[in-house]
Amino acid sequence: MHIEMITTHPYQDQNPGTSGLRKKVKVFQQPGYLENFVQSIFDSLEDFTGKTLVLGGDGRYFNRAAIQIIIKIAAANGFGELLIGQGGLLSTPAASHIIRKYQAFGGLILSASHNPGGSEEDFGIKYNVGNGGPAPEKDTAAFYQRSQSINAYKTIAMADVDLDNLGSQQIGDLTITIIDPVSDYAELMQSIFDFPLLKQSISSGYITLLFDAMHAITGPYARRILVDMLGAPAESVINAEPLEDFGGHHPDPNLAHAHELAEVMFSDHAPTFGAASDGDGDRNMITGSQIFVTPSDSLAIMAANAQLIPAYSAGLSGVARSMPTSQAVDRVAASYNIPCYETPTGWKFFGNLLDVGKITLCGEESFGTGSNHVREKDGLWAVLFWLNLIARRRQSVADIVHEHWQKFGRDIYCRHDYEAVETPIANAIVEHLRAQLPTLPGQVFGEYTVKFADEFCYKDSVDGSISRNQGIRVGFTNGSRIVFRLSGTGTVGATLRIYIERFEPDSSRQNQDAQVALAELIELAEQLCEVKKRTGRVGPDVMT
Ligand code: G6P
Ligand code: ZN
Repeated sequence: MHIEMITTHPYQDQNPGTSGLRKKVKVFQQPGYLENFVQSIFDSLEDFTGKTLVLGGDGRYFNRAAIQIIIKIAAANGFGELLIGQGGLLSTPAASHIIRKYQAFGGLILSASHNPGGSEEDFGIKYNVGNGGPAPEKDTAAFYQRSQSINAYKTIAMADVDLDNLGSQQIGDLTITIIDPVSDYAELMQSIFDFPLLKQSISSGYITLLFDAMHAITGPYARRILVDMLGAPAESVINAEPLEDFGGHHPDPNLAHAHELAEVMFSDHAPTFGAASDGDGDRNMITGSQIFVTPSDSLAIMAANAQLIPAYSAGLSGVARSMPTSQAVDRVAASYNIPCYETPTGWKFFGNLLDVGKITLCGEESFGTGSNHVREKDGLWAVLFWLNLIARRRQSVADIVHEHWQKFGRDIYCRHDYEAVETPIANAIVEHLRAQLPTLPGQVFGEYTVKFADEFCYKDSVDGSISRNQGIRVGFTNGSRIVFRLSGTGTVGATLRIYIERFEPDSSRQNQDAQVALAELIELAEQLCEVKKRTGRVGPDVMT
Protein backbone atom coordinates (compact mmCIF):
# COMPACT_ATOMS: atom_id res chain seq x y z
CA MET A 1 0.00 0.00 0.00
CA HIS A 2 1.63 3.24 -1.12
CA ILE A 3 0.62 6.18 1.05
CA GLU A 4 0.47 9.56 -0.64
CA MET A 5 0.61 12.87 1.22
CA ILE A 6 -1.53 15.42 -0.58
CA THR A 7 -0.90 19.07 0.17
CA THR A 8 -4.00 21.01 1.15
CA HIS A 9 -5.04 24.34 2.65
CA PRO A 10 -7.40 24.80 5.60
CA TYR A 11 -11.05 25.79 5.23
CA GLN A 12 -12.29 28.21 7.87
CA ASP A 13 -15.80 26.79 8.24
CA GLN A 14 -15.33 23.23 9.46
CA ASN A 15 -16.81 23.71 12.91
CA PRO A 16 -19.23 20.82 13.64
CA GLY A 17 -22.70 21.84 14.88
CA THR A 18 -25.30 20.03 17.00
CA SER A 19 -24.78 16.87 14.99
CA GLY A 20 -21.60 16.84 12.91
CA LEU A 21 -20.47 19.00 10.00
CA ARG A 22 -23.34 19.93 7.68
CA LYS A 23 -22.96 22.01 4.56
CA LYS A 24 -24.29 22.25 1.04
CA VAL A 25 -23.05 19.44 -1.24
CA LYS A 26 -21.24 22.09 -3.29
CA VAL A 27 -19.21 23.07 -0.23
CA PHE A 28 -18.22 19.46 0.37
CA GLN A 29 -17.24 19.11 -3.29
CA GLN A 30 -14.55 21.81 -3.05
CA PRO A 31 -11.07 20.37 -3.55
CA GLY A 32 -9.88 18.72 -0.36
CA TYR A 33 -12.88 19.82 1.72
CA LEU A 34 -14.11 16.38 2.78
CA GLU A 35 -10.54 15.05 2.81
CA ASN A 36 -9.40 17.83 5.18
CA PHE A 37 -12.20 17.18 7.62
CA VAL A 38 -11.71 13.41 7.66
CA GLN A 39 -7.95 13.80 8.10
CA SER A 40 -8.58 16.36 10.87
CA ILE A 41 -10.71 13.77 12.66
CA PHE A 42 -8.06 11.07 12.31
CA ASP A 43 -5.30 13.49 13.35
CA SER A 44 -7.25 14.24 16.54
CA LEU A 45 -7.76 10.58 17.49
CA GLU A 46 -5.17 8.25 18.97
CA ASP A 47 -4.32 4.56 18.91
CA PHE A 48 -6.55 3.32 16.14
CA THR A 49 -3.90 1.56 14.05
CA GLY A 50 -5.20 -1.86 13.07
CA LYS A 51 -8.64 -1.15 14.55
CA THR A 52 -12.10 -1.17 12.98
CA LEU A 53 -14.00 1.79 11.53
CA VAL A 54 -17.69 1.58 10.62
CA LEU A 55 -18.77 3.53 7.56
CA GLY A 56 -22.15 4.24 6.01
CA GLY A 57 -24.68 6.92 5.29
CA ASP A 58 -28.27 7.73 4.50
CA GLY A 59 -27.88 7.35 0.75
CA ARG A 60 -28.21 11.01 -0.13
CA TYR A 61 -26.44 12.61 -3.08
CA PHE A 62 -22.62 12.42 -2.69
CA ASN A 63 -22.89 9.47 -0.25
CA ARG A 64 -21.19 6.96 -2.54
CA ALA A 65 -18.51 9.35 -3.75
CA ALA A 66 -17.72 10.38 -0.16
CA ILE A 67 -17.43 6.76 0.94
CA GLN A 68 -14.86 6.01 -1.76
CA ILE A 69 -12.80 9.04 -0.67
CA ILE A 70 -13.01 8.07 3.01
CA ILE A 71 -12.05 4.44 2.35
CA LYS A 72 -8.76 5.62 0.85
CA ILE A 73 -8.00 8.08 3.62
CA ALA A 74 -8.87 5.49 6.31
CA ALA A 75 -6.62 2.96 4.58
CA ALA A 76 -3.73 5.43 4.46
CA ASN A 77 -4.20 6.32 8.13
CA GLY A 78 -3.76 2.73 9.26
CA PHE A 79 -7.18 1.33 10.17
CA GLY A 80 -7.20 -2.47 10.14
CA GLU A 81 -10.79 -3.04 9.06
CA LEU A 82 -13.64 -1.11 7.51
CA LEU A 83 -17.20 -2.32 8.01
CA ILE A 84 -19.32 -0.67 5.33
CA GLY A 85 -23.06 -0.99 4.83
CA GLN A 86 -24.01 -2.48 1.47
CA GLY A 87 -24.62 0.25 -1.09
CA GLY A 88 -22.89 2.63 1.33
CA LEU A 89 -26.05 2.59 3.46
CA LEU A 90 -26.41 2.53 7.23
CA SER A 91 -29.04 4.23 9.32
CA THR A 92 -27.62 6.25 12.20
CA PRO A 93 -29.00 3.91 14.91
CA ALA A 94 -27.81 0.84 12.97
CA ALA A 95 -24.33 2.36 12.68
CA SER A 96 -24.34 2.99 16.42
CA HIS A 97 -25.32 -0.63 17.06
CA ILE A 98 -22.71 -2.01 14.67
CA ILE A 99 -19.95 0.05 16.32
CA ARG A 100 -20.97 -1.43 19.67
CA LYS A 101 -21.61 -4.98 18.54
CA TYR A 102 -18.29 -5.37 16.71
CA GLN A 103 -16.39 -3.27 19.24
CA ALA A 104 -15.21 -0.93 16.52
CA PHE A 105 -12.94 1.99 17.32
CA GLY A 106 -15.58 4.35 15.93
CA GLY A 107 -17.60 5.18 12.87
CA LEU A 108 -18.20 7.84 10.27
CA ILE A 109 -21.84 8.47 9.41
CA LEU A 110 -22.64 10.41 6.27
CA SER A 111 -25.87 12.29 6.60
CA ALA A 112 -27.46 15.66 7.00
CA SER A 113 -30.31 13.94 8.81
CA HIS A 114 -33.66 15.55 7.98
CA ASN A 115 -32.22 18.24 5.69
CA PRO A 116 -33.06 17.90 1.98
CA GLY A 117 -30.66 16.03 -0.32
CA GLY A 118 -29.50 16.43 -3.92
CA SER A 119 -26.71 18.20 -5.76
CA GLU A 120 -27.97 21.63 -4.62
CA GLU A 121 -28.89 20.55 -1.11
CA ASP A 122 -27.19 19.34 2.05
CA PHE A 123 -24.58 16.78 2.98
CA GLY A 124 -23.04 15.99 6.33
CA ILE A 125 -20.54 13.87 8.17
CA LYS A 126 -20.20 12.99 11.80
CA TYR A 127 -17.86 10.87 13.83
CA ASN A 128 -19.15 8.45 16.46
CA VAL A 129 -16.93 7.09 19.19
CA GLY A 130 -16.48 3.53 20.48
CA ASN A 131 -19.61 3.59 22.66
CA GLY A 132 -21.59 4.11 19.44
CA GLY A 133 -22.55 7.69 20.26
CA PRO A 134 -21.73 11.03 18.64
CA ALA A 135 -18.29 12.38 19.50
CA PRO A 136 -18.40 14.59 22.61
CA GLU A 137 -17.76 18.32 22.35
CA LYS A 138 -14.11 18.07 23.35
CA ASP A 139 -13.53 15.83 20.31
CA THR A 140 -15.54 17.92 17.86
CA ALA A 141 -13.69 20.99 19.10
CA ALA A 142 -10.39 19.20 18.45
CA PHE A 143 -11.49 18.26 14.92
CA TYR A 144 -12.30 21.88 14.22
CA GLN A 145 -9.08 23.14 15.67
CA ARG A 146 -7.05 20.70 13.60
CA SER A 147 -8.97 21.69 10.46
CA GLN A 148 -7.75 25.27 10.93
CA SER A 149 -4.10 24.38 10.46
CA ILE A 150 -4.15 21.22 8.37
CA ASN A 151 -1.75 21.29 5.43
CA ALA A 152 -1.81 17.70 4.14
CA TYR A 153 -3.95 14.60 4.12
CA LYS A 154 -3.02 10.97 3.58
CA THR A 155 -4.56 8.77 0.94
CA ILE A 156 -3.72 5.78 -1.22
CA ALA A 157 -4.12 5.16 -4.92
CA MET A 158 -6.57 2.31 -5.36
CA ALA A 159 -9.57 1.43 -7.48
CA ASP A 160 -13.01 2.24 -6.12
CA VAL A 161 -14.42 -0.49 -3.87
CA ASP A 162 -17.51 -2.40 -5.02
CA LEU A 163 -20.03 -1.34 -2.38
CA ASP A 164 -22.87 -3.49 -3.64
CA ASN A 165 -21.73 -7.05 -3.03
CA LEU A 166 -21.48 -8.50 0.46
CA GLY A 167 -18.14 -9.93 1.56
CA SER A 168 -14.56 -9.06 2.43
CA GLN A 169 -11.52 -8.05 0.48
CA GLN A 170 -7.96 -7.38 1.55
CA ILE A 171 -6.00 -4.30 0.52
CA GLY A 172 -2.55 -4.44 2.08
CA ASP A 173 -3.14 -4.68 5.83
CA LEU A 174 -6.70 -3.45 5.52
CA THR A 175 -9.78 -5.69 5.40
CA ILE A 176 -12.81 -4.09 3.80
CA THR A 177 -16.06 -5.86 4.60
CA ILE A 178 -19.39 -4.99 3.01
CA ILE A 179 -22.11 -5.93 5.48
CA ASP A 180 -25.87 -6.23 5.30
CA PRO A 181 -27.02 -2.88 6.74
CA VAL A 182 -30.22 -4.29 8.24
CA SER A 183 -29.67 -7.74 9.77
CA ASP A 184 -27.72 -6.83 12.95
CA TYR A 185 -30.19 -4.07 13.69
CA ALA A 186 -33.24 -6.26 13.04
CA GLU A 187 -31.84 -8.87 15.43
CA LEU A 188 -31.39 -6.19 18.09
CA MET A 189 -35.01 -5.06 17.72
CA GLN A 190 -36.13 -8.66 18.07
CA SER A 191 -34.26 -8.89 21.36
CA ILE A 192 -36.01 -5.78 22.76
CA PHE A 193 -39.65 -6.16 21.72
CA ASP A 194 -42.26 -8.90 21.83
CA PHE A 195 -42.16 -9.93 18.16
CA PRO A 196 -44.57 -12.90 18.53
CA LEU A 197 -47.20 -10.60 20.10
CA LEU A 198 -46.65 -7.96 17.41
CA LYS A 199 -46.93 -10.54 14.68
CA GLN A 200 -50.14 -11.87 16.11
CA SER A 201 -51.62 -8.36 16.59
CA ILE A 202 -50.82 -7.47 13.00
CA SER A 203 -51.97 -10.74 11.42
CA SER A 204 -55.24 -10.69 13.36
CA GLY A 205 -55.91 -7.18 12.06
CA TYR A 206 -55.94 -5.66 15.57
CA ILE A 207 -53.14 -3.36 14.49
CA THR A 208 -53.14 -1.79 11.04
CA LEU A 209 -50.24 0.47 10.24
CA LEU A 210 -48.68 2.88 7.81
CA PHE A 211 -45.00 3.78 7.89
CA ASP A 212 -43.61 6.59 5.74
CA ALA A 213 -39.90 6.08 5.03
CA MET A 214 -39.83 9.40 3.13
CA HIS A 215 -37.56 7.91 0.42
CA ALA A 216 -34.78 7.82 2.97
CA ILE A 217 -32.76 5.22 4.82
CA THR A 218 -35.49 3.47 6.83
CA GLY A 219 -37.20 1.98 3.77
CA PRO A 220 -35.08 -1.21 3.73
CA TYR A 221 -35.19 -1.48 7.52
CA ALA A 222 -38.97 -1.06 7.70
CA ARG A 223 -39.55 -3.55 4.90
CA ARG A 224 -37.43 -6.20 6.57
CA ILE A 225 -38.81 -5.69 10.09
CA LEU A 226 -42.41 -4.60 9.63
CA VAL A 227 -43.22 -6.54 6.46
CA ASP A 228 -40.91 -9.60 6.32
CA MET A 229 -40.58 -10.30 10.04
CA LEU A 230 -43.86 -8.99 11.47
CA GLY A 231 -46.10 -9.78 8.53
CA ALA A 232 -47.52 -6.31 7.78
CA PRO A 233 -48.78 -5.97 4.19
CA ALA A 234 -46.16 -4.53 1.79
CA GLU A 235 -48.32 -1.41 1.25
CA SER A 236 -47.85 -0.57 4.94
CA VAL A 237 -44.46 0.95 4.10
CA ILE A 238 -44.68 3.90 1.73
CA ASN A 239 -41.86 5.84 0.01
CA ALA A 240 -39.67 2.86 0.86
CA GLU A 241 -37.04 3.28 -1.89
CA PRO A 242 -34.08 5.37 -0.69
CA LEU A 243 -33.47 8.14 -3.25
CA GLU A 244 -30.49 10.51 -3.53
CA ASP A 245 -32.78 13.52 -3.35
CA PHE A 246 -35.48 11.93 -1.14
CA GLY A 247 -37.91 12.48 -4.00
CA GLY A 248 -37.32 16.23 -3.74
CA HIS A 249 -38.80 16.44 -0.24
CA HIS A 250 -37.54 17.22 3.25
CA PRO A 251 -37.10 13.82 4.90
CA ASP A 252 -38.29 15.32 8.16
CA PRO A 253 -40.99 13.46 10.07
CA ASN A 254 -43.44 16.12 11.16
CA LEU A 255 -46.97 16.97 10.11
CA ALA A 256 -45.76 19.48 7.53
CA HIS A 257 -43.26 17.28 5.71
CA ALA A 258 -44.82 13.84 6.18
CA HIS A 259 -48.08 15.19 4.78
CA GLU A 260 -48.91 12.06 2.78
CA LEU A 261 -49.02 10.10 6.02
CA ALA A 262 -50.75 12.91 7.92
CA GLU A 263 -53.57 13.06 5.35
CA VAL A 264 -54.30 9.35 5.74
CA MET A 265 -54.09 9.45 9.54
CA PHE A 266 -56.65 12.24 9.76
CA SER A 267 -58.99 10.68 7.16
CA ASP A 268 -61.88 8.30 7.81
CA HIS A 269 -59.86 5.32 6.54
CA ALA A 270 -56.94 5.87 8.92
CA PRO A 271 -55.13 2.78 10.19
CA THR A 272 -54.60 2.25 13.93
CA PHE A 273 -51.04 3.52 13.83
CA GLY A 274 -48.96 5.75 11.57
CA ALA A 275 -45.32 6.77 11.79
CA ALA A 276 -42.48 8.29 9.81
CA SER A 277 -38.73 8.58 10.13
CA ASP A 278 -36.12 10.97 8.78
CA GLY A 279 -33.20 10.92 6.33
CA ASP A 280 -30.87 8.85 8.50
CA GLY A 281 -33.49 6.94 10.50
CA ASP A 282 -32.97 8.37 13.96
CA ARG A 283 -36.08 10.55 14.23
CA ASN A 284 -39.67 9.43 14.56
CA MET A 285 -43.13 10.87 14.31
CA ILE A 286 -45.92 8.95 16.01
CA THR A 287 -49.57 9.26 15.08
CA GLY A 288 -52.75 7.28 15.61
CA SER A 289 -56.09 7.52 13.91
CA GLN A 290 -57.03 11.25 14.21
CA ILE A 291 -54.19 12.04 16.62
CA PHE A 292 -50.61 13.32 16.49
CA VAL A 293 -48.44 12.54 19.50
CA THR A 294 -45.96 15.32 20.29
CA PRO A 295 -42.43 13.98 20.77
CA SER A 296 -42.40 15.29 24.34
CA ASP A 297 -45.59 13.39 25.16
CA SER A 298 -44.30 10.31 23.36
CA LEU A 299 -41.23 10.27 25.60
CA ALA A 300 -43.35 10.65 28.74
CA ILE A 301 -45.76 7.90 27.65
CA MET A 302 -42.90 5.55 26.84
CA ALA A 303 -41.38 6.18 30.25
CA ALA A 304 -44.71 5.60 31.98
CA ASN A 305 -45.27 2.30 30.14
CA ALA A 306 -41.75 0.95 29.72
CA GLN A 307 -42.37 -2.02 31.97
CA LEU A 308 -44.75 -3.44 29.36
CA ILE A 309 -41.83 -3.88 26.95
CA PRO A 310 -39.70 -7.02 27.44
CA ALA A 311 -36.32 -5.25 27.46
CA TYR A 312 -37.45 -2.70 30.07
CA SER A 313 -39.64 -4.95 32.21
CA ALA A 314 -37.37 -4.44 35.23
CA GLY A 315 -38.09 -0.70 35.14
CA LEU A 316 -35.97 2.33 34.26
CA SER A 317 -32.89 3.51 36.14
CA GLY A 318 -33.68 7.09 35.17
CA VAL A 319 -34.73 9.27 32.24
CA ALA A 320 -33.40 12.36 30.50
CA ARG A 321 -34.71 15.02 28.17
CA SER A 322 -33.12 17.94 26.39
CA MET A 323 -33.80 21.30 28.01
CA PRO A 324 -36.37 22.57 25.46
CA THR A 325 -38.33 19.29 25.61
CA SER A 326 -41.53 19.62 27.65
CA GLN A 327 -41.58 18.69 31.31
CA ALA A 328 -44.07 15.84 30.76
CA VAL A 329 -41.44 13.16 31.37
CA ASP A 330 -40.37 14.90 34.61
CA ARG A 331 -43.83 14.19 36.01
CA VAL A 332 -43.55 10.50 35.18
CA ALA A 333 -40.09 10.31 36.73
CA ALA A 334 -41.32 12.04 39.88
CA SER A 335 -44.24 9.67 40.23
CA TYR A 336 -42.00 6.60 39.70
CA ASN A 337 -39.36 8.07 41.97
CA ILE A 338 -36.56 7.84 39.40
CA PRO A 339 -34.13 10.61 38.44
CA CYS A 340 -34.81 12.88 35.47
CA TYR A 341 -31.87 14.73 33.89
CA GLU A 342 -32.07 17.90 31.81
CA THR A 343 -29.38 18.15 29.12
CA PRO A 344 -28.62 20.60 26.31
CA THR A 345 -30.03 19.95 22.84
CA GLY A 346 -28.01 17.25 21.06
CA TRP A 347 -28.03 13.50 21.51
CA LYS A 348 -24.37 13.46 22.46
CA PHE A 349 -25.24 14.80 25.91
CA PHE A 350 -27.11 11.59 26.77
CA GLY A 351 -24.09 9.37 26.06
CA ASN A 352 -22.38 9.59 29.45
CA LEU A 353 -25.64 9.15 31.36
CA LEU A 354 -26.43 6.03 29.33
CA ASP A 355 -22.90 4.66 29.62
CA VAL A 356 -22.88 4.75 33.41
CA GLY A 357 -26.45 3.47 33.66
CA LYS A 358 -27.93 6.64 35.19
CA ILE A 359 -30.69 6.57 32.57
CA THR A 360 -32.41 3.94 30.46
CA LEU A 361 -34.64 6.14 28.29
CA CYS A 362 -34.19 9.62 26.85
CA GLY A 363 -35.63 11.93 24.26
CA GLU A 364 -35.93 15.33 22.68
CA GLU A 365 -38.71 17.53 21.36
CA SER A 366 -37.04 17.35 17.95
CA PHE A 367 -38.68 13.98 17.21
CA GLY A 368 -35.97 11.88 18.86
CA THR A 369 -36.40 9.10 21.40
CA GLY A 370 -34.10 6.29 22.35
CA SER A 371 -32.74 4.05 25.06
CA ASN A 372 -29.61 2.33 26.28
CA HIS A 373 -29.79 -0.18 23.37
CA VAL A 374 -27.66 2.15 21.21
CA ARG A 375 -26.13 5.60 21.66
CA GLU A 376 -28.25 7.43 19.09
CA LYS A 377 -31.91 8.20 18.93
CA ASP A 378 -33.74 5.54 17.02
CA GLY A 379 -36.75 6.02 14.75
CA LEU A 380 -37.82 2.43 14.12
CA TRP A 381 -37.19 1.49 17.72
CA ALA A 382 -39.74 4.16 18.73
CA VAL A 383 -42.18 2.79 16.16
CA LEU A 384 -41.81 -0.75 17.53
CA PHE A 385 -42.10 0.56 21.09
CA TRP A 386 -45.48 2.13 20.31
CA LEU A 387 -46.67 -0.95 18.40
CA ASN A 388 -45.70 -3.11 21.36
CA LEU A 389 -47.56 -0.73 23.68
CA ILE A 390 -50.72 -0.78 21.60
CA ALA A 391 -50.57 -4.58 21.42
CA ARG A 392 -50.06 -4.94 25.18
CA ARG A 393 -52.54 -2.33 26.34
CA ARG A 394 -55.10 -3.20 23.65
CA GLN A 395 -55.92 0.48 23.36
CA SER A 396 -55.85 3.00 20.54
CA VAL A 397 -53.11 5.65 20.37
CA ALA A 398 -55.70 8.32 21.26
CA ASP A 399 -56.85 6.39 24.34
CA ILE A 400 -53.28 5.83 25.51
CA VAL A 401 -52.50 9.56 25.18
CA HIS A 402 -55.71 10.78 26.81
CA GLU A 403 -55.38 8.37 29.71
CA HIS A 404 -51.82 9.57 30.22
CA TRP A 405 -52.95 13.20 30.37
CA GLN A 406 -55.68 12.34 32.83
CA LYS A 407 -53.21 10.64 35.09
CA PHE A 408 -50.24 13.01 34.87
CA GLY A 409 -51.73 16.22 33.45
CA ARG A 410 -50.94 17.58 29.98
CA ASP A 411 -47.96 19.74 29.15
CA ILE A 412 -49.44 21.64 26.22
CA TYR A 413 -46.52 22.32 23.93
CA CYS A 414 -45.47 23.85 20.65
CA ARG A 415 -42.35 24.98 18.84
CA HIS A 416 -42.15 27.84 16.35
CA ASP A 417 -39.21 28.03 13.96
CA TYR A 418 -38.05 31.09 12.06
CA GLU A 419 -35.70 29.73 9.43
CA ALA A 420 -32.88 31.33 7.43
CA VAL A 421 -32.90 34.52 9.47
CA GLU A 422 -29.96 36.75 8.59
CA THR A 423 -27.25 35.90 11.09
CA PRO A 424 -26.71 39.49 12.38
CA ILE A 425 -30.45 39.84 13.06
CA ALA A 426 -30.57 36.47 14.84
CA ASN A 427 -27.56 37.41 16.96
CA ALA A 428 -29.14 40.74 17.82
CA ILE A 429 -32.31 38.94 18.95
CA VAL A 430 -30.27 36.74 21.27
CA GLU A 431 -28.38 39.76 22.62
CA HIS A 432 -31.65 41.58 23.20
CA LEU A 433 -33.03 38.58 25.13
CA ARG A 434 -29.83 38.22 27.12
CA ALA A 435 -29.96 41.88 28.12
CA GLN A 436 -33.45 41.40 29.59
CA LEU A 437 -32.59 38.38 31.74
CA PRO A 438 -31.60 40.22 34.95
CA THR A 439 -34.80 42.29 35.03
CA LEU A 440 -37.36 39.64 34.10
CA PRO A 441 -37.80 37.71 37.37
CA GLY A 442 -40.82 38.97 39.26
CA GLN A 443 -42.37 40.71 36.24
CA VAL A 444 -46.05 39.99 35.66
CA PHE A 445 -47.52 39.46 32.18
CA GLY A 446 -51.28 38.83 32.48
CA GLU A 447 -51.66 35.54 34.36
CA TYR A 448 -47.94 34.78 34.03
CA THR A 449 -45.36 35.84 36.60
CA VAL A 450 -41.70 35.24 35.73
CA LYS A 451 -40.07 32.91 38.23
CA PHE A 452 -36.65 32.66 36.61
CA ALA A 453 -34.88 33.84 33.47
CA ASP A 454 -31.48 32.48 32.59
CA GLU A 455 -29.21 31.02 29.97
CA PHE A 456 -28.99 27.27 30.29
CA CYS A 457 -25.59 25.99 31.36
CA TYR A 458 -25.05 22.24 31.73
CA LYS A 459 -22.60 20.45 33.93
CA ASP A 460 -22.19 16.82 32.94
CA SER A 461 -22.54 14.83 36.17
CA VAL A 462 -20.28 12.07 34.84
CA ASP A 463 -17.22 13.84 33.43
CA GLY A 464 -17.74 17.29 34.96
CA SER A 465 -17.57 19.08 31.60
CA ILE A 466 -19.49 22.33 31.29
CA SER A 467 -21.50 23.51 28.27
CA ARG A 468 -22.57 27.14 28.38
CA ASN A 469 -25.04 29.23 26.37
CA GLN A 470 -27.40 26.36 25.60
CA GLY A 471 -30.55 28.42 25.22
CA ILE A 472 -32.47 31.17 26.99
CA ARG A 473 -35.16 30.06 29.43
CA VAL A 474 -37.97 32.09 30.88
CA GLY A 475 -39.88 30.12 33.51
CA PHE A 476 -43.15 31.18 35.13
CA THR A 477 -44.51 30.53 38.60
CA ASN A 478 -47.27 28.25 37.21
CA GLY A 479 -44.69 25.95 35.57
CA SER A 480 -45.07 27.41 32.06
CA ARG A 481 -41.92 28.07 30.08
CA ILE A 482 -40.69 29.89 27.03
CA VAL A 483 -37.32 28.85 25.63
CA PHE A 484 -35.38 30.56 22.85
CA ARG A 485 -32.37 29.12 21.07
CA LEU A 486 -30.57 29.21 17.77
CA SER A 487 -30.49 25.91 15.92
CA GLY A 488 -27.13 24.22 15.53
CA THR A 489 -28.11 22.17 12.49
CA GLY A 490 -29.10 24.69 9.83
CA THR A 491 -26.99 25.43 6.77
CA VAL A 492 -28.43 28.80 5.69
CA GLY A 493 -28.41 31.85 7.96
CA ALA A 494 -29.74 31.16 11.45
CA THR A 495 -32.87 29.40 12.66
CA LEU A 496 -34.52 30.80 15.76
CA ARG A 497 -36.51 28.21 17.68
CA ILE A 498 -39.12 29.27 20.23
CA TYR A 499 -40.43 26.53 22.51
CA ILE A 500 -43.56 27.17 24.51
CA GLU A 501 -45.31 25.08 27.12
CA ARG A 502 -48.04 25.31 29.73
CA PHE A 503 -49.19 22.67 32.19
CA GLU A 504 -52.88 21.77 32.20
CA PRO A 505 -53.88 19.46 35.05
CA ASP A 506 -57.65 19.85 34.48
CA SER A 507 -58.78 16.95 32.30
CA SER A 508 -61.84 18.84 31.08
CA ARG A 509 -59.48 21.39 29.49
CA GLN A 510 -56.85 19.09 28.06
CA ASN A 511 -58.28 18.61 24.60
CA GLN A 512 -57.56 22.10 23.35
CA ASP A 513 -55.60 22.94 20.26
CA ALA A 514 -52.05 23.78 21.38
CA GLN A 515 -51.80 27.00 19.32
CA VAL A 516 -55.01 28.27 20.89
CA ALA A 517 -54.16 27.16 24.42
CA LEU A 518 -50.73 28.77 24.16
CA ALA A 519 -51.80 31.96 22.36
CA GLU A 520 -51.01 34.27 25.27
CA LEU A 521 -47.54 32.79 25.77
CA ILE A 522 -46.86 32.91 22.01
CA GLU A 523 -47.69 36.61 22.08
CA LEU A 524 -45.46 37.12 25.10
CA ALA A 525 -42.60 35.32 23.35
CA GLU A 526 -42.81 37.85 20.50
CA GLN A 527 -42.88 40.70 22.98
CA LEU A 528 -39.66 39.37 24.51
CA CYS A 529 -37.71 38.46 21.36
CA GLU A 530 -39.24 40.70 18.67
CA VAL A 531 -38.51 38.22 15.91
CA LYS A 532 -41.45 39.31 13.77
CA LYS A 533 -40.70 42.97 14.33
CA ARG A 534 -37.01 42.59 13.54
CA THR A 535 -37.39 40.33 10.49
CA GLY A 536 -40.60 41.74 9.11
CA ARG A 537 -42.08 38.27 8.99
CA VAL A 538 -45.69 37.54 9.79
CA GLY A 539 -45.21 34.18 11.47
CA PRO A 540 -43.01 31.13 11.87
CA ASP A 541 -41.90 28.99 8.92
CA VAL A 542 -42.58 25.74 10.75
CA MET A 543 -44.74 24.92 13.76
CA THR A 544 -44.47 21.57 15.48
C1 G6P B 1 -30.25 16.69 15.50
C2 G6P B 1 -29.63 16.21 16.78
C3 G6P B 1 -30.61 16.35 17.91
C4 G6P B 1 -31.14 17.76 18.00
C5 G6P B 1 -31.70 18.19 16.67
C6 G6P B 1 -32.13 19.64 16.63
O1 G6P B 1 -31.29 15.85 15.13
O2 G6P B 1 -29.24 14.87 16.67
O3 G6P B 1 -30.01 15.95 19.10
O4 G6P B 1 -32.14 17.84 18.96
O5 G6P B 1 -30.75 17.99 15.67
O6 G6P B 1 -31.04 20.46 16.80
P1 G6P B 1 -31.12 22.02 16.53
O7 G6P B 1 -29.81 22.54 17.03
O8 G6P B 1 -31.36 22.23 15.06
O9 G6P B 1 -32.31 22.49 17.33
ZN1 ZN C 1 -31.65 12.29 11.78
